[in-house]
Amino acid sequence: MTQRIVDILHEVEPRENIEVDGWIQTVRTSKSVTFFEIGDGSCIQNLQAVASVELSNYDALQKVQTGSAVHIVGKLVASPAKGQKWELHISEMNVLGTVDEDYPLQKKRHSFEFLRTVAHVRPRARTFGAVFRVRHALQMAVHRFFDDRGFIQVHTPIITGSDCEGAGQMFRVTTLDMNAPPRHDGSIDYSQDFFGKETSLTVSGQLEGEIFALAFKNIYTFGPTFRAENSHTARHAAEFWMIEPEMAFCDLSRDQQVAEDFIKYIVTQVLERCSDDIDFFDQWIDKGLREKLESLVNSSFETLPYTEAVSLLEKSKQKFEYPIKWGLDLQSEHERFLTEQLIQKPVFVIDYPRDIKAFYMRLNDDEKTVAAMDLLVPKVGEIIGGSQREERIDVLDAQLQYFDLSPVDYWWYRDLRRFGGVAHAGFGLGFERALMYITGMQNIRDVIPFSRTPGSADF
Ligand code: 4AD
Ligand code: MG
Repeated sequence: MTQRIVDILHEVEPRENIEVDGWIQTVRTSKSVTFFEIGDGSCIQNLQAVASVELSNYDALQKVQTGSAVHIVGKLVASPAKGQKWELHISEMNVLGTVDEDYPLQKKRHSFEFLRTVAHVRPRARTFGAVFRVRHALQMAVHRFFDDRGFIQVHTPIITGSDCEGAGQMFRVTTLDMNAPPRHDGSIDYSQDFFGKETSLTVSGQLEGEIFALAFKNIYTFGPTFRAENSHTARHAAEFWMIEPEMAFCDLSRDQQVAEDFIKYIVTQVLERCSDDIDFFDQWIDKGLREKLESLVNSSFETLPYTEAVSLLEKSKQKFEYPIKWGLDLQSEHERFLTEQLIQKPVFVIDYPRDIKAFYMRLNDDEKTVAAMDLLVPKVGEIIGGSQREERIDVLDAQLQYFDLSPVDYWWYRDLRRFGGVAHAGFGLGFERALMYITGMQNIRDVIPFSRTPGSADF
């Protein structure tokens, strides 16, 4: 039976008849031996397999190239080479998948930009092996955190008729003929569309999540979300995954506490379960990463009201591309300056102006701000956005009117306030933003298997 390389490398004693399947990462020949480094995606290390000239197919093996799929049987022995405990002395080696000359991954380091253009082989590159192992470990940690605490996962719809964030960044879903759509009074007649109305891809599962929170108390969603923002930044994707817990009988401060515990938990889990990958990122991608993550787990996050944050930014004398004053949304340069320079650790900015946040956020007593919270972290900026929700029907109606939204469209959302509605709160963690923070990778495209960004939907 073949073993994963991660398990082979953890063997405690030399052993005969080790079998391994994998892809050749490098080939090196010296005198009468050839060294193959084999990778199988199970860990950051490769297994060194050594073929000696006595092997019956030794000459044929000389033609084997990087990228080939191989099956090897051999004897695991202590390696004389530095930096590895074991090597495999090959008794049998078969090439199961050969490689054409234009295989894009060569021994030299490739740029991340180049690797995005060959996303079909990119997962075999070391950095991306590490990224996608961490991505897996992180999503398992998310489920573990909530499951251990009695949260129910809800699968909220991907096709929706409501714009949760109200930012008008939705991708339309339609089966109408774009060349000749049916019309009614001059505009397109969506009553003839597949669902009999206008629909889009969801930007957030929150509103439906609230329905379930008002039955199960604590729930979470974890699914893909879609935003047609034309942001050409390293932190925005048109398709990204979001984790949205929602808690009934809960106010903003408990919401923040859950968010803080959650971030610390998932970071701790990745440190434990992907220790070698984190060391790799620390060495090659983001020096000091491990220390940063360990100190995050041991620190307590700050809380800063928006009003104070703005006055700190104004006093800072820092030159910003976009000037800041009360009432304007924080740009990522402001967010990063706050968390990296002024506070120097993760910080919750709370109580944002009503005008720059979504309609569902609970109005504060000052009637100018809402019970919102954004968690800002160094290098990434906003990683979480959350709030306490408006549970008072009269205030909610005033909010709908203020934002020019129709109470008819939100009939069920309003009903929830009339049928045993209670204080509730939640937040959304951008899964890829969390991955960027944890791996130190600087571009969101490099933590997504096949990214979708403006102008690009390959693979
Ligand atoms: O702040 P946002 O828009 O909040 C919501 O969607 C709420 N419904 C969440 C809630 O209260 N249940 O988005 C939440 C997070 C952001 O903090 C950010 O990490 C991530 O989602 N995010 C993006 N990540 C990648 N690409 C984009 N275009 C993103 N937009 C938001
Ligand atoms: Mg936000």
